Amino acid sequence: MKRAAATPKLHWPSPPPRETLALGSDELQLWCAALSEFRDEVARFVTLLSEAERSKASGFHFPAHRDSYILRHGILRILLSGYRKQHPRDIEFSFRPLGKPELKDGLPQAPLHFSHSHSGDLALYAITRSCPVGVDVECLKPVPDMDQIVRQFFSSQEIQALAALPEEERLHAFYACWTRKEACLKVDGEGISQGVKHVDFSHTLLQETKTLETVGDLQRPDRWRLQSLAPAAGYLGAVAYERPALRVTQWSLPASLALICAT
Ligand SMILES: CC(C)(COP(=O)(O)OP(=O)(O)OC[C@H]1O[C@@H](n2cnc3c(N)ncnc32)[C@H](O)[C@@H]1OP(=O)(O)O)[C@@H](O)C(=O)NCCC(=O)NCCS
Repeated sequence: MKRAAATPKLHWPSPPPRETLALGSDELQLWCAALSEFRDEVARFVTLLSEAERSKASGFHFPAHRDSYILRHGILRILLSGYRKQHPRDIEFSFRPLGKPELKDGLPQAPLHFSHSHSGDLALYAITRSCPVGVDVECLKPVPDMDQIVRQFFSSQEIQALAALPEEERLHAFYACWTRKEACLKVDGEGISQGVKHVDFSHTLLQETKTLETVGDLQRPDRWRLQSLAPAAGYLGAVAYERPALRVTQWSLPASLALICAT
């Protein structure tokens, strides 16, 4: 795989040995992966994908984008297969009207919810048995059209709070706000196109929110639990879900996936 971005230094620890990897009913597991560490796996991972995924992969113009897609989806399948005790190739997805993927044959007695996101060389996955979840990650690079994006997607309070910040704090606050919005709106996958201006995080703009806090929209002010994430140097993320609070664990994916799952 061509290196599209430098391999990030991951902040989260390695997971426990595979035998002890379990997902409690009150737990939310977060995984991050530096995709370039898996570049030798592209040929193997492509065999794990569905026909639809392979067709989407072959439609990318740039080989680096194609390989990134194959690796992200291969890793997602491998992670889910570990919890489902199923071969990665046998995992089937269905999609909500605006594209949120779900497990097709999710058993009501043993549901598994997930969300994933990527930016630059980093992929982030959130998996829980408890409730729908949303995750977002962004590489902290300059945003030349920040003012235009802010006008389009941020609430008036957020625009004011951002404008009041010193120049050197603005980029970080912009990404904090953006990833929190995306994470919340990816929970049910339906609010992204309509609701983005109505979710207001201006009060959290300067907070670290390393611990979970509740935020909401105008109708339901305590709708989501939200936590900002710093999975790797130069990246910022957020995870959100609807209440109640879950136990959150964070792991970096080892380059040898055999450690967590045999394929
Ligand atoms: C579709 C959207 C989820 C894509 O997000 P992104 O930042 O481009 O990409 P990410 O890597 O974070 O997430 C992509 C993954 O989210 C999932 N996804 C797609 N549509 C989704 C939806 N409606 N809800 C939840 N998850 C969705 C998919 O698994 C997708 O992976 P894939 O493209 O490899 O199949 C979302 O950001 C969007 O609609 N944006 C439109 C602009 C917008 O309203 N932005 C508001 C920001 S404040």
